[in-house]
Amino acid sequence: IIKRAFSTTTAKDAIKNVTVIGGGLMGSGIAQVAAQAGQNVTLVEINENLIQKAQSSIAVSLGRVARKLYRDSPSEGEVFVKNAQARIKGSTNPAEAVKEADLVIEAIIENIDLKHKLFKMLDEAAPAKTLFASNTSSLSIGEIASVTNRKDRFGGLHFFNPVQVMKLLEVVRIPETSEETYQAFMTWGKSIGKTCITCKDTPGFVVNRLLIPYKLEAFRMYERGDASFEDIDIAMKLGAGYPMGPFELSDYTGLDLSKDILEGWHKRFPDDPLFKPVRIVEKMVAEGKLGRKSGEGFYKYNK
Ligand code: 3HC
Repeated sequence: IIKRAFSTTTAKDAIKNVTVIGGGLMGSGIAQVAAQAGQNVTLVEINENLIQKAQSSIAVSLGRVARKLYRDSPSEGEVFVKNAQARIKGSTNPAEAVKEADLVIEAIIENIDLKHKLFKMLDEAAPAKTLFASNTSSLSIGEIASVTNRKDRFGGLHFFNPVQVMKLLEVVRIPETSEETYQAFMTWGKSIGKTCITCKDTPGFVVNRLLIPYKLEAFRMYERGDASFEDIDIAMKLGAGYPMGPFELSDYTGLDLSKDILEGWHKRFPDDPLFKPVRIVEKMVAEGKLGRKSGEGFYKYNK
């Protein structure tokens, strides 16, 4: 038995302090669900403005959750919102923000160079016990972890949008992830109310490996002129029971994310025709039509 010279966060020590890096759609959702579960959260963004933006979207979402949980008692709902908000503090200093963390979850953009730079710095700044996770959708966890000296305390924690509503958490193990770390991830996932599944570090893990090729085929079907995008959406909702059609869903998660994922996979698997660039996605992103967040994607939205 190899005995460690330091103690790490394990499933037995409940995770109390969580640091989330990145306050976008996913990062703010992750911060929110951890705060709702009673954990102390530090949410890191690059400037005050973005912290405030994240905090106001969290406030709106907490309001929706409170209305559901405390339908008959609005005053209790208000307390719930206030308490959760009080547990989230913002920071623009990632090195400082990980000093007390039991768990760090990275939810920045899908760019391997940026993730490497960030994790190298965090690895030096965080205590040895701190567990690291990435919420990457499509990059390799092993490759992200490779720049750290804590591969045994590293894994993937992959959430789904909207984080506050979707019940699944994919827990991704790399070969180096220790059993202790894996168990701590599973226990933490449960503590924030998610159902966890275990995945290997394969492209797209489980959900995106199936969902992205489906969306790509929908884009190509539309490009071929086989059907309108509105009709394809109707078809998948009424014919297959999906809550959103593929175009609605792409607008919801963001066309820029679809493009980033596709480009990453095309680079990794250049010969696979499934991951060839899709013209319509490239054109829309170039025009700034990113989906709901920009006010227009396939559909138009009130900003
Ligand atoms: N915060 C809090 N609550 C929210 C919320 C949010 N951001 N968004 C929705 N809700 C709540 C609503 O308040 C509502 O609560 P109620 O049941 O008490 O009324 C409930 O969720 C349902 O919402 P709506 O009535 O507004 O609308 P829908 O019934 O259409 O549900 C949806 C919305 C949950 C988004 C549903 O359309 C859905 O499941 N869509 C598919 C989402 C999906 O596939 N996500 C995965 C994308 S892939 C991914 O994320 C991977 C990543 O790597 C990209």
